[in-house]
Amino acid sequence: MRAATITRFGDPSVFETADLPQPRPKAHELLLRIEAAGVNRLDHYIREGGVNPDLTFPHVLGSDAVGLVEDAGDDVAGFAPGDRVIPMPGYPTDPDDVGAEVLATSSSYAIRGLAENGTYAEYMTIPARWTLKAPEGVSSIDLATLPMALITAVRAVKAVGDVKEGNTVLIHAGASGTGSFMVQVAKALGARVAATVRSTAKRDFVESLGADLVVGMEDGALDAVRDWSGGGVDVAVDNLGGPSLARSVDATRPLGLTVLMGNVLGLEATVPVRSVFFPQKRISGTLMGGADDLGWGLEQVRAGTIRPTVDRTYGLNEAAAAHERLAAGNAVGNIVFEVA
Ligand SMILES: NC(=O)c1ccc[n+]([C@@H]2O[C@H](COP(=O)([O-])OP(=O)(O)OC[C@H]3O[C@@H](n4cnc5c(N)ncnc54)[C@H](OP(=O)(O)O)[C@@H]3O)[C@@H](O)[C@H]2O)c1
Repeated sequence: MRAATITRFGDPSVFETADLPQPRPKAHELLLRIEAAGVNRLDHYIREGGVNPDLTFPHVLGSDAVGLVEDAGDDVAGFAPGDRVIPMPGYPTDPDDVGAEVLATSSSYAIRGLAENGTYAEYMTIPARWTLKAPEGVSSIDLATLPMALITAVRAVKAVGDVKEGNTVLIHAGASGTGSFMVQVAKALGARVAATVRSTAKRDFVESLGADLVVGMEDGALDAVRDWSGGGVDVAVDNLGGPSLARSVDATRPLGLTVLMGNVLGLEATVPVRSVFFPQKRISGTLMGGADDLGWGLEQVRAGTIRPTVDRTYGLNEAAAAHERLAAGNAVGNIVFEVA
């Protein structure tokens, strides 16, 4: 099968199109013919070598895909050849961890494409239990934008953020893969949403997603968010990390919650201790999500409450160009490989 592989860590030029053996489904697994595969910032971090230094090469990146069931191993029920399905972008590899209360805290939890080969390929296998039926009426290109960003957004905003109707919510990088879905999840839950953008060119896009207030990221920009929310937002979701964390905490009201879920601006953060415990604020991490989170998000997509945004599509032989675009930060919404 054709796949976009990396044979070493490095810049986007490390991609090579290769012919790899087609995987065969084991018991309880499906073989999927991938129609489209989504690109996430995590893929960029893995390619650079900053996430899994023990990777074996050649490696196929990618956590997101939509595909058609081609074949199944023994003991698979409920799927037929030709079913359009969405594989979970991460899941426990040990069946004993299936019942974990929070999936991504189980010891065998693995994000697809991080160690095991991922989705930048014509075929993949996956345990059938970690596969969801795709909503009808949505194109495979649109569907491929969803899994990682949507599952993360639903868990961050709805489950961990516990956002309710009437809450005020701050979402960083509202034009990013994750941010664009977090804005929409918060709106779907009935919240009033403020979002940040780095460049004014992305302001219209974030407003079109439903954001009530869009501000820049320059010093003092979050003063406008505090004024708008009447003294601080109920929930801030921070996908930037680094110096953004202290700014997010500062933008929340007393007893407010900051949900931390990304590190675009850095892996280290300094937060004034009293700015947290005097006003009794909370900071909570979140990683990925469960099948119920993705299922809720897909239902919103089917109903039209949440819409995918495709930035640009590429062929598998254009992986370097796709990652260059991601690295340059020019994408609005999600980059997708059109595979079949
Ligand atoms: N916790 C989880 O489960 C989880 C899941 C998925 C992703 N993540 C993490 O979340 C983060 C975002 O992921 P993503 O897929 O949404 O990324 P993405 O689509 O590549 O977007 C990154 C965004 O970062 C912003 N940005 C880049 N450089 C910046 C700077 N110097 N100052 C301010 N903003 C800057 C850009 O904002 P503009 O659009 O305004 O230029 C861009 O939209 C990553 O760290 C990723 O690893 C975590």
